[in-house]
Amino acid sequence: MNRSRKIILASNWKMNLLPEDTKIYMEKLCPMIESMSSRLDIHTYVPYIDIQTALEYSKNSRIKIGAQNCHFENFGAFTGEISTDMLLSLGVKNVIIGHSERRKYFCETDEIINKKINKALNSNMSVILCVGETIKEKNAGIELEIVESQIVNGLKNINNKYLNNVCIAYEPVWAIGTGKTATSLEADSMCKKIRSTIEKIYGKEISMSTSILYGGSLNLENAEDIIIQSDIDGGLIGGASLNPEKFYEIIDRVNNIVKKEGKD
Ligand code: 13P
Repeated sequence: MNRSRKIILASNWKMNLLPEDTKIYMEKLCPMIESMSSRLDIHTYVPYIDIQTALEYSKNSRIKIGAQNCHFENFGAFTGEISTDMLLSLGVKNVIIGHSERRKYFCETDEIINKKINKALNSNMSVILCVGETIKEKNAGIELEIVESQIVNGLKNINNKYLNNVCIAYEPVWAIGTGKTATSLEADSMCKKIRSTIEKIYGKEISMSTSILYGGSLNLENAEDIIIQSDIDGGLIGGASLNPEKFYEIIDRVNNIVKKEGKD
């Protein structure tokens, strides 16, 4: 965690929770986080069907409600898809792009992901670009190349003026939903590599101000250890964020680290 960068704690509900659960979730979480450090950004990425309820019940709170995906076209014959204009019409300005589950189950390539990023940034939205290697790629020792190419291709032709609306989430695929978290050193060393890749493309200043998150079986036991690392600026949390109390406990731990430093 580097104090000059925004620290982001984001929950990704994936295909979980109904609108009625969303109401209860927001009613519990929103009041609990009001007194947290202003250095923390709290995001929740909900299924499309939950967006309106999430917005309604988090109104006037500091939570940013986001979508888990978007299409790269404005409108048209794309059954089952959602455009950035549709999200913006509800007031949603944050979106996750390139999650490994989208890459794996919905055949999203770096090229498609790049088009989506381009569209979202041109629509003035903020993007979390997810990258990460599979266990096969890790065992083959090619994880650095894989992650680097996901960044380079995902951000191809993206102008540097948009980079303050881009955040990267390093989510090793083998750690997602498996209970096998990367060690804090493994996670930090990949996040350093990601920062140096950003530096090669956009220069030092942008690389130093880009937030890089870790995701993959983050929970109350390991969150502090991982998020405290110098090149990790927060977390993208799946399973452990589905319960508002559990998500809050993680936020609280991170908040205490920030407060102890007395720079709030
Ligand atoms: P888990 O925290 O359930 O491993 O999921 C991580 C993730 O994929 C967040 O986007």
